[in-house]
Amino acid sequence: MKKKTVRDIAQMKGREKIAMLTAYDAAMAGLLDECGIDILLVGDSLGMVVLGYESTVPVTMEEMLHHVAAVRRGSPNALVIADMPFGSCQVSPEQAVANGIRFMKEGGCDGVKVEGGGDVCATVQALVRAGVPVMGHLGVTPQTAGLLGGYRVQGRSREAARRLLADADLLARAGVFSIVLECIPEELARLITERVPVPTLGIGAGIHCDGQVLVTNDLLGLFDRFTPHFVKKYLQLAPMIREAVSGFRDDVRQGAFPGPEHSFSSDTDFSDLAGT
Ligand code: KIV
Repeated sequence: MKKKTVRDIAQMKGREKIAMLTAYDAAMAGLLDECGIDILLVGDSLGMVVLGYESTVPVTMEEMLHHVAAVRRGSPNALVIADMPFGSCQVSPEQAVANGIRFMKEGGCDGVKVEGGGDVCATVQALVRAGVPVMGHLGVTPQTAGLLGGYRVQGRSREAARRLLADADLLARAGVFSIVLECIPEELARLITERVPVPTLGIGAGIHCDGQVLVTNDLLGLFDRFTPHFVKKYLQLAPMIREAVSGFRDDVRQGAFPGPEHSFSSDTDFSDLAGT
């Protein structure tokens, strides 16, 4: 397999659908990479999926860097994108460039993702000028979900749809190489996809996007307290894990593990060591 580049992804628009998943550690990144996933996103969903935060807001640069570097080590072929966490790019374009460069130098990733529309264009331009490829993110933008009235489908009215179309245009002109569209009506996602020259990656945005992205833990059914409407679970891992771990617990309690096949022996006679 050949290492994917930003250019490869850009060239897939209109030719081949793009498969993107989130990854947070080297072991899972290796498996996803082996399966030919085009883009691995180290999302700031890290905060909720792995670190136990209530939202993505508390996630820091240091936490992200730790996981981005792990994903890069596990993934030789996929394009690895680091989410810029809340507070890492909002202060000024200079701050964004400094953190974007850290992600590429210390994390070894191929680019970053920035949430927002027209309001982040100066930041996107500064990053791209500094040599940091940028993926945009429109629709539901979890870092500012509070301002949007929570995790609600965006772009349902004509006015809101017009704003999202304009934001997509602005991002494309600012130099993003792709745009995530999260939780918007599929007809609006089609309009945006037809309009912008860069690939769109949908999550809850219907079939017409140039590619699709899911949180890997959702796809694998690792979390089963609720399932967002747009998630397709390809596996139900949570009950399987509970069953396996309960089996281990019972075996330990009943003295059924470890068996002889899991234990070591030696030709040395240790019997005279008893009581020494
Ligand atoms: O943080 C994340 O995982 C994301 C995806 C849901 C696109 O932004």
